[in-house]
Amino acid sequence: MAATESLIQRAQAVLTPNYRQAPVVLVRGEGSRVWDADGNEYLDCIAGIATVALGHCNPVLVRALDEQARTLWHVSNLFFTPRAIELAEALAGTTTWAKRVFLCNSGAESNEAMLKLARKYHADRGEPQRNEIVACTNSFHGRTMFALSVTGQPKYHHGFEPLVPGVKHVPYGDADALRAALGPRTAAFIVEPVQGEAGVMPPPAGYLAKARELTREAGALLLLDEVQTGMGRTGRMWAHAWEGVVPDLMSSAKALANGYPMGALLASEQVGQHLSPGSHASTFGGNALGAAVALAALREIERALPAAQAVSARLFERLGALRAAGRVVEVRGRGMLIGVVLRGVDAGEVVRLARERGLLVNAIGDQVVRLAPALTLSAAEADAAVERLAAAIAAAPAKP
Ligand SMILES: Cc1ncc(COP(=O)(O)O)c(C=O)c1O
Repeated sequence: MAATESLIQRAQAVLTPNYRQAPVVLVRGEGSRVWDADGNEYLDCIAGIATVALGHCNPVLVRALDEQARTLWHVSNLFFTPRAIELAEALAGTTTWAKRVFLCNSGAESNEAMLKLARKYHADRGEPQRNEIVACTNSFHGRTMFALSVTGQPKYHHGFEPLVPGVKHVPYGDADALRAALGPRTAAFIVEPVQGEAGVMPPPAGYLAKARELTREAGALLLLDEVQTGMGRTGRMWAHAWEGVVPDLMSSAKALANGYPMGALLASEQVGQHLSPGSHASTFGGNALGAAVALAALREIERALPAAQAVSARLFERLGALRAAGRVVEVRGRGMLIGVVLRGVDAGEVVRLARERGLLVNAIGDQVVRLAPALTLSAAEADAAVERLAAAIAAAPAKP
């Protein structure tokens, strides 16, 4: 029996069945290439779902992890450690507005902290009734209960009700609907600068700036979920920098430590100080290994951005050219977060056919193929990716 087949049998016998995994067992990676248990090589253009921004086994990060692993792993937040302090300083330094940082382990956890803090901020100021959260339809913020409750996709809610109360949803990109939803009970509006899990949906130009204006007028906070869009994914360190918007709070995770579990909540001074002693915590938050990797990742991403923007432009141009064959209707997104919108063929089938051709991408729904490669993808790798994707799209059977 091939190595893959026997490992998958064992996985199916023991792992909870909550993931729809491809029948592939990956055993090794280098840059944008990964190898499976049977020795097949793939070009990885999904990179741990927008997470391995500097490629697999990036030597600078391996060195940072190795050095830290030989020095100190974990002491909990009963004590300070140098790497966590340096990371918090570096993260705040990537923005014009963040002065406080809470370190944690995942996107959901950073959103959970962000949402809790939004309520606590108003409660501390004598307005506990200001506890409603406005969020967007089709949004995705994670699977913990508060993050799930603001996630605007009912398919993820089923079976887990009752949800956290006090959440309203408005259509993404609709400033009038947002204005109507905000009021004296609104604690905050939470929004993704580009909706990732909705199929890579950028908002209309000016939407984030309008959201800033409206939330300020309503006395509510603006919460940006940059878990997927941050850390250079859209071509700037943070996607909100494109619009020069200043939020009150922002969440990060995914590429923050290039695949080492890490999350962060960035806060303005005014709001961040309300995460008062004892009010919130995380055992692993800011642990020395993750902090050391994230610190190195932050520096490396800053260096990688100019080349990544050139490769992104090349990808958009070449993917855009696929429209001529009729099965691609739109190529949307920004930087290295790209949605290829298909017509007449199933995205899941295209992803499977791409994998057969040595390309890893993923499907969002049945119409969109997402590419979220490493920012270090080379021009030659980008060309190979487009070629393999084009072949997969051409080979896909027409949808009945
Ligand atoms: C925008 C956004 N927020 C939050 C999350 C949840 O992150 P995690 O899976 O690390 O909890 C995701 C994950 O896809 C995401 O895309």
